[in-house]
Amino acid sequence: MTAAQGTTHPATLDDVKGWFFAVDRHLFVWFLEQQKQRGTTGNLIEMGAYLGRSAILLGDYVREEETFTICDLFDSDAPDAANSGEMAASYRKTLTRDAFDGNYLAFHDELPDVIQAPTFVLADGRVEPKSARFVHIDASHLYEHVIGDIAVARDALTPDGVVVLDDYRSEHTPGVSAAVWEAVATMDLRPIAVSFNKFYGTWGDPEQYQDQLKADLSADPHMRVYQEDVRGRRLLRVRSMPGLQPPEFRHSRYYDEIRAQQAEAARLHARSSAARSIRAKRLAKDLLPPVATRAIRKAMQERRA
Ligand SMILES: C[S@@+](CC[C@H](N)C(=O)[O-])C[C@H]1O[C@@H](n2cnc3c(N)ncnc32)[C@H](O)[C@@H]1O
Repeated sequence: MTAAQGTTHPATLDDVKGWFFAVDRHLFVWFLEQQKQRGTTGNLIEMGAYLGRSAILLGDYVREEETFTICDLFDSDAPDAANSGEMAASYRKTLTRDAFDGNYLAFHDELPDVIQAPTFVLADGRVEPKSARFVHIDASHLYEHVIGDIAVARDALTPDGVVVLDDYRSEHTPGVSAAVWEAVATMDLRPIAVSFNKFYGTWGDPEQYQDQLKADLSADPHMRVYQEDVRGRRLLRVRSMPGLQPPEFRHSRYYDEIRAQQAEAARLHARSSAARSIRAKRLAKDLLPPVATRAIRKAMQERRA
């Protein structure tokens, strides 16, 4: 990261703070590449972008004729007390709209369509029905919000579309678990796969993705894929193995400048450390009695031998 004109820029996607880890980065890339290969078209939507880690990756997959809509409160007030508590506990110290914009524009020429508001505004005709192919739900993790976000995704997605829900099984997010499995039980949401953090589903045919996903991941030594049946439907469990690295992602436009600044800082640090050590040796020689200096020199010679 570098501080230029009062803004801190990321050099790589890993420099953008967030909760978007290697296995899910691989799965996002896999679904988006599949959609590309199959000629699946449609818009992209993300509810909950924080500082842009997942949004920046998604932004690489938006085609000419498609839109990418992001909805986040950023530094606006939350619509209710529970949501306000969530924002205060997890995001308020670090999140501003300017920080998101700065991060996103470090990797892309233009911002996506940003709606700075609670996600429930999307239910109010802001999203064209059956127009989206990928929706990432990662905003409030409270049941009342998530169940509404799932309904927005259902209305927005085309039959081939994929919805991804974050934190569907964490101890601190029971509301997401309740909403996800309620949607499976009563809203016809069909699971495709689950990872440690995220649930991948569709309102179309999950098998169109599952066979290929299983085949592709089984060939990867850093991933394991297991098959389960849940309420009579197939579901894949995807696990990362030690050593899994996130997929390659291009550097930001500031990469060269930041690396040059870091190299210069390291060079200056090494030079001043060397100067400090010479000064310390000279001082010791001047201040210590000759008998102590000789003893130290002898000990150092013995250690080197
Ligand atoms: C977990 S973070 C998103 C992480 C991001 N997707 C990533 O991968 O790094 C959740 C985000 O949801 C936003 N948020 C929380 N409640 C919201 C609400 N009711 N409507 C819109 N955004 C909300 C927060 O401002 C925060 O940026």
